[in-house]
Amino acid sequence: MSKEKAAQIQPAEGKLGVMVVGMGAVATTLIAGVEAVRRNLAKPIGALTQMGTIRLGKRTENNTPLIKDFVPLASLDDIVFTGWEIFPEDMYEAAQHANVLDRDHLQTIKPFLESIKPMPAVFDQHYVKRLNGTHVKQGKSKCDLAQQVRADIQQFKSKVERAVMIWTGSTEIFLEPTAVHQTLAAFEKGLVDDDPSIAPSQIYAYAALKEGIPFANGAPNLTVDLPCMIELSKQTGAPICGKDFKTGQTFIKTVLAPAFKSRMLGVSGWYSTNILGNRDGEVLDDPESFKTKEESKLGVLDYILQPELYPDLYKDIYHKVRINYYPPRGDNKEGWDNIDIFGWLGYPMQIKVDFLCRDSILAAPLALDLVLFLDLAQRTPELKHLGIQEWLSFYFKSPQSAEGLYPEHDLFIQLMKLKNTLRHIQGEELITHLGLEYYD
Ligand SMILES: NC(=O)c1ccc[n+]([C@@H]2O[C@H](COP(=O)([O-])OP(=O)(O)OC[C@H]3O[C@@H](n4cnc5c(N)ncnc54)[C@H](O)[C@@H]3O)[C@@H](O)[C@H]2O)c1
Repeated sequence: MSKEKAAQIQPAEGKLGVMVVGMGAVATTLIAGVEAVRRNLAKPIGALTQMGTIRLGKRTENNTPLIKDFVPLASLDDIVFTGWEIFPEDMYEAAQHANVLDRDHLQTIKPFLESIKPMPAVFDQHYVKRLNGTHVKQGKSKCDLAQQVRADIQQFKSKVERAVMIWTGSTEIFLEPTAVHQTLAAFEKGLVDDDPSIAPSQIYAYAALKEGIPFANGAPNLTVDLPCMIELSKQTGAPICGKDFKTGQTFIKTVLAPAFKSRMLGVSGWYSTNILGNRDGEVLDDPESFKTKEESKLGVLDYILQPELYPDLYKDIYHKVRINYYPPRGDNKEGWDNIDIFGWLGYPMQIKVDFLCRDSILAAPLALDLVLFLDLAQRTPELKHLGIQEWLSFYFKSPQSAEGLYPEHDLFIQLMKLKNTLRHIQGEELITHLGLEYYD
């Protein structure tokens, strides 16, 4: 079989530092979960890096190793966590507050969780109206705050071999790119001038990329999807990727929508509503933060259904997304979808989805995969210097792609892209699913 030339991937030796910005429900579920898996208390369900396999060669060859045995990923035992949070609670208190994992799970790993205490955060209530943090850095300017975060990173980096940063902080208010985001030089001047278009998430991302550390964004904030950040990412070889974890309702949406399109079934309406009672739900109850989330959630259908190519099927679709804060449910979100579709000769049909999910249980394995794959990217010269890692679109509601290129939202195309990237860097033949050779 013809093989490509494998990339020169550096081995995953030594400790991998994971720097988490915002240590709430997703972050504590990630950190506690990794420790529970390390101690054999539970399985890493939902994490492709831990449970997924990859087919190599022909279907007749029966060669399907685990992804983690195929590419050199950091071992869970080598992960060390730190992070920033606007409240001073340690990870045990924060996990109790988040109320995702049950007492038995938390009790067994209590000393470990208590040992992780957040660093003071860069925070400004202007960007997250519903929170009022006390554990925050003071600085003369945004530039000064960025330098403080860089100093935190440098200190942590001296204790580990490599590091990755992931934003699991709150959804900030809706922002649009301005002149300050167009070049790195303009952004650095904006930091000195305290430009209001620079939100805290951008300060963390800037600090990470400046220190050569990859950055992933679990929220829909305007953070690294900016020309200045792409420039910096390429300059320092620090990989970046999309934004807003694709977990509950949007995950299901990006499975169902391609199915309708592949059968040429029309869609006239898609009404999505949620009830959610955790801190995230409280933050999203503010219209300015909700607007950021809404944009991210609404984007997917247009790209998947391509109404410009199929006007008879999708031109007049009515798409609505709602999130309602409802404290009794905590992290256990309920998401309803009413989908109005139409078939042969235009006859209407309806589909109802009621997903009783657990938000952070769905998000934590995605966060783990992202830090491990971003670490792989930073050890792979061929990927590292691309800046944007489009092959990680699989994880995001808003994937990031090169300028002028539309993002790919179809979950199964995203998965094929991810696996083919792994095959490519390991010099394996790509899988196209053509399969004519089986019939020669
Ligand atoms: N859980 C999911 O399924 C899911 C899916 C997609 C996106 N998200 C996003 O992930 C993020 C985290 O979700 P969550 O459920 O853990 O929320 P959460 O409210 O429990 O945790 C976020 C934490 O970030 C902290 N924070 C806010 N601004 C900060 C700053 N500038 N610096 C440091 N800390 C800061 C908050 O105090 C809070 O503790 C949210 O933006 C959410 O919209 C979650």
